[in-house]
Amino acid sequence: MEATRYRHEDYRETADWLLEHTEQRPKVAIICGSGLGGLADLLDNRVVFRYEDIPRFPTSTVQGHAGQLVFGSLQGRECVCMQGRFHFYEGYDMHKVTYPVRVFFLLGVKTLIVTNAAGGLNSSYNVGDIMLIKDHINMPGFAGQNPLCGHNDERFGERFPCMSDAYDCELRTLAKQTAEEQGCIKFLQEGVYCMLAGPTYETIAECRVLQVLGADAVGMSTVPEVVVARHCGLRVLGLSLITNKVVTDYDSTEKANHQEVLRTTELRTEDLQRLVRHLINKI
Ligand code: HPA
Repeated sequence: MEATRYRHEDYRETADWLLEHTEQRPKVAIICGSGLGGLADLLDNRVVFRYEDIPRFPTSTVQGHAGQLVFGSLQGRECVCMQGRFHFYEGYDMHKVTYPVRVFFLLGVKTLIVTNAAGGLNSSYNVGDIMLIKDHINMPGFAGQNPLCGHNDERFGERFPCMSDAYDCELRTLAKQTAEEQGCIKFLQEGVYCMLAGPTYETIAECRVLQVLGADAVGMSTVPEVVVARHCGLRVLGLSLITNKVVTDYDSTEKANHQEVLRTTELRTEDLQRLVRHLINKI
């Protein structure tokens, strides 16, 4: 795949266009995962831009993803939501997948909240659990697909950014407090998210490998956006909704499928929205 080469001016052009078309100046951006875009519908004073109408913005194709950028307030806090994200498995290169994050940075965003649907690898997790991401394994990065490969523009960040503090400790503490207050603590977990490129779900042998590596949940998104966000100094909170348990047993007849993922998402979407809504208030 030929990598897209974006220049600082490209991100700037998109950001300036958005700044001209809304008076809102959000400090928090939220990337909504598969079936979790409902959060954007809860915003007050909504200003909505379809991706195809935003200069230089990539456009979304996957089922269950609306493909629009929604500005508005949640509990009085201005934020901007991506309703539909770009996945590597759709054929976008890593620079396209992460394009919006640098635009958020140029808009003045300081905190990024990412949500996703993920398969549970940790045997103590239940379907419907919400996992606070405490760390990640960048499997595409192991294979040379890191969004920061190529020329480094110092205006965004340094050549060799630290990733040992990728998921902000203070935000995780706030999330745990909020979960306690909102009655979500019984299904809140904290663990390691592993990204695979997809679009295939994992084989049994692959799931076993990921468990040995120390991953608690597996999905096909999030990590590239987090890497780019940390590069430009955004604080990050990541939340995975465990939509299914991965298959690790050759006698099992269960099969991972997108319909199950979307069904579980529907069941827990309100809890996740409530958690984020009340958390935003504390940031
Ligand atoms: N594997 C990978 N990605 C996923 C899964 C899974 O089991 N569930 C939701 N997204």
